[in-house]
Amino acid sequence: MGETVMLPRPARVGGLPVWGVIKERRTIRQYSGDPLALDVVSQLLWASSGVSGDAPHLRTAPSAGGRHPATTMLVANRVTGLTPGIYRYSPDQHGLELVSRGDYGDTLVDACSGQNMLGSAPAVFAWNVEPERTTSRYGDRGKRYILLDLGHACQNLHLAATALGLGCCSIGAYSDDRVNGIFGLDGKANAVLYMATVGVLEGE
Ligand SMILES: Cc1cc2nc3c(=O)[nH]c(=O)nc-3n(C[C@H](O)[C@H](O)[C@H](O)COP(=O)(O)O)c2cc1C
Repeated sequence: MGETVMLPRPARVGGLPVWGVIKERRTIRQYSGDPLALDVVSQLLWASSGVSGDAPHLRTAPSAGGRHPATTMLVANRVTGLTPGIYRYSPDQHGLELVSRGDYGDTLVDACSGQNMLGSAPAVFAWNVEPERTTSRYGDRGKRYILLDLGHACQNLHLAATALGLGCCSIGAYSDDRVNGIFGLDGKANAVLYMATVGVLEGE
């Protein structure tokens, strides 16, 4: 196990009124060069898939049968207080376990069809799915549920980013083999099925 960084406690009340946030949400692909603060990353991780009720099943995003087959991975390109590298989010601990140190920006851009925001974003979220967690209960239909689960987690991330005045972009266009290779996954028992970039708006 790598070292674990315990995250600042996220806000559970307050923030902007929800209707305005839903209306304002937009895909943003250009970011300023500014880093993200650790408390901001903490809030984004919690909003996307943190624990909000009885652990481990009740979280901020719904999941079929409470199985939560996805683990959120964070590529910290520029997060204040985090060594650049790949981290695994633990919702139960609300902590980030260091998986591997390094600057993955350029490698991710290459693996994602040259999409520059994978390198310019201070933080990249990647959902690593272990299908067995859902298909062991639901069989083949579980494959559908997994994709639906990820949509919920990513939309929560979008809305949280909007509420914090940040930009966010869902990423589905990438080489599965290359992205799974970056995260050290075999692409079968574990695979990255969805990603998203988050960054500071230009001119802020
Ligand atoms: C499943 C999915 C995959 C996407 N993949 C990418 C992507 O790889 N690159 C990108 O620039 N935008 C990607 N997008 C963002 C869409 O292009 C964007 O949501 C769409 O243009 C509508 O804009 P809006 O989000 O501002 O409403 C993706 C969106 C979804 C839902």
